[in-house]
Amino acid sequence: MITCTHIEKTYRSENIETRALKDVSFEIKDGEFVAIMGPSGSGKSTLMHILGCLDTPTSGNYVLDNKDVSQLSDSELADIRMKHIGFVFQSFNLLPRTTVLRNVALPLVYADVPRAEREKRAEQALRSAAFPEAFWHHRSNQLSGGMMQRVAIARALVNDPTLILADEPTGNLDTKTGEAVLRTFQELHEEGKRTIILITHEPYVAEHAERVIHVKDGEVVADDRNHKRRIV
Ligand SMILES: Nc1ncnc2c1ncn2[C@@H]1O[C@H](COP(=O)(O)OP(=O)(O)O)[C@@H](O)[C@H]1O
Ligand SMILES: [Mg+2]
Repeated sequence: MITCTHIEKTYRSENIETRALKDVSFEIKDGEFVAIMGPSGSGKSTLMHILGCLDTPTSGNYVLDNKDVSQLSDSELADIRMKHIGFVFQSFNLLPRTTVLRNVALPLVYADVPRAEREKRAEQALRSAAFPEAFWHHRSNQLSGGMMQRVAIARALVNDPTLILADEPTGNLDTKTGEAVLRTFQELHEEGKRTIILITHEPYVAEHAERVIHVKDGEVVADDRNHKRRIV
């Protein structure tokens, strides 16, 4: 479902050129749980932006669900994101004074889903993200970090995406809370419907995935399916 072929990304400012991705090629099949791992500055976020249709490569091809999305316009990319992709970020990115349910339902507002349907789907997504019902009407800024990240996961699930992209999702969480969030990703993977891509600089976090693509200085340096997998 994901095919990257010779992807290059170069950032240009007035007098500096940064080659953030160099000849990146790989395939990810439907339903895989993959970590993209590498040190800071290796190009992970750049790659996530391309895989998430937030940005396009300078050259090379990115085919998502049989569609070449490498050179689409911003509005075409936005449409693909809304229909097919869910995002989870390190910093949660929730609306602070807004309830959990409303935060989760928000992407459906943009997708013009009727109100009753929005609520039903938000509740379903919160259950999938193992978020306790007692807190559904709390404001998001009243929650712990681990709970906030579950809200963000539910929000990512609410449009029933085929692809979930998580950029350092445990980066702001303590180890135990992070493990619980990784467990939720593993459970979502076991359901088998979605492709999950987990971006991290920590080998320990990456080992929770079934496959680890290693990046360094903008290049794929290893693609590992034989690591000792951590199941939590
Ligand atoms: N918008 C940008 N403009 C210029 N350079 C960028 C931009 N985004 C990232 N870079 C550079 O590209 C390289 C890869 O960055 P990034 O993809 O953020 O790596 P990572 O997420 O692995 O830390 C770094 O050298 C970074 O400074
Ligand atoms: Mg990054």
